[in-house]
Amino acid sequence: MTDTNASLMARRCAALPSGLGQAHELFVARAENAELWDVEGRRYLDFAGGIAVLNTGHRHPKIVAAVKAQLDSYHHTCFQVVAYEPYVELCERLMAKAPGDFAKKAFLVNTGAEAVENAVKVARAATRRQAVIAFGGGFHGRTLMGMALTGKVAPYKAGFGPFPAEIYHARYPNPLHGVSEADALASIEHIFKSDVEPERVAAIILEPVQGEGGFYAASPSFAQALRALCDRHGILLIADEVQTGAGRTGTWLACEQWGVAPDLVTMAKSMAGGFPIAAVIGRASAMDAAPAGGLGSTYAGHPLACAAALAVLDVFDEQKLLDRAKAVGERLSAGLGELAKRHAAIKDVRAHGAMVAIEMFKNGDLHQPDADLTKRVCAEALKRGLILLSCGVYGNVIRILVPLTVPDQQIDEALAILGQSFDAAQG
Ligand SMILES: Cc1ncc(COP(=O)(O)O)c(C=O)c1O
Repeated sequence: MTDTNASLMARRCAALPSGLGQAHELFVARAENAELWDVEGRRYLDFAGGIAVLNTGHRHPKIVAAVKAQLDSYHHTCFQVVAYEPYVELCERLMAKAPGDFAKKAFLVNTGAEAVENAVKVARAATRRQAVIAFGGGFHGRTLMGMALTGKVAPYKAGFGPFPAEIYHARYPNPLHGVSEADALASIEHIFKSDVEPERVAAIILEPVQGEGGFYAASPSFAQALRALCDRHGILLIADEVQTGAGRTGTWLACEQWGVAPDLVTMAKSMAGGFPIAAVIGRASAMDAAPAGGLGSTYAGHPLACAAALAVLDVFDEQKLLDRAKAVGERLSAGLGELAKRHAAIKDVRAHGAMVAIEMFKNGDLHQPDADLTKRVCAEALKRGLILLSCGVYGNVIRILVPLTVPDQQIDEALAILGQSFDAAQG
């Protein structure tokens, strides 16, 4: 009997715990650039990109070739046992691309959460302080420290505590929802007054654009104010670029747009075009503070993923994907802007490079986020062959993370499907 999405879903549900989410009841058979085909032979436009992992698309030929070539020479030694050059080259190239006029070092791990964990370890070792300030609405992963830093309870933290101590949450600037930059900065001062003195804070961690949280951006002026505050108190500033990094926002790192440099940067997701790897890049003086043997893990910086990540860097240069990110963002926001004119529920269309989102409210009322409509639109889009993801603290945001290599004609096709999906979801 041939597999169907339904038969595989039944096996999945019987075998896997229900805590493991799945946005769409689909099983993939094959994929190419921005398209994928399910086990029943149906074609989809993939505008989720494996949650921001496929900036270079599914199966980019250069990346596939680099991984195949690596597989023919060696594929695991554990870098801490017998080292290999691609790991070092990747760190060198990532350091060269990170902002900040100071000496840097970098090391590799496996996942975004692991990069975040390690950035906190480095910050604590370097400052000999314990506390960390993160932001409401932020997402930093599903490990215990990742959850502790994450600023959204359901579904990420509920029932999983207690979490590591000494984590405090400030407010992330979000003018659409009534939080100004001044409010956000005041909330940090409030933490210093009511929870922990600044002399005990090792780091402040933020996403330059909140991913899970709803694609809200920290402006350059906010980042500059944070930088000044960190400098005043000897606190390290960490940019979590797991979702924004690798070109999504039109610069290699989103923090390049700040005009000030963070001390530490975390990357993962699109940096290796679909192969699991992550990086911590930062100020050499801080990075050298951890004791020998204190950093690393068995698979960290896996040779196949290093080969893929080096190919991604080449592909970005050869195909000018940073320019393409801006063009994709502009084309999408123009089309979504037209859609917003026809649907009062869409109150905001925002694009940070190709990190594009629309936010929905009942009757266009900013006090009534419309998660139901958001779900219905995503479901209608799937019926019409478009894979979308929602996000946001209120679940009322559709986010687009399409490969930057997507042809224009497929962007237009997706916009047409979105239009039909809104009509169907509201009709
Ligand atoms: C900003 C940010 N940090 C950390 C993570 C965790 O990454 P991973 O799922 O690879 O552990 C994510 C994942 O979505 C993320 O968006």
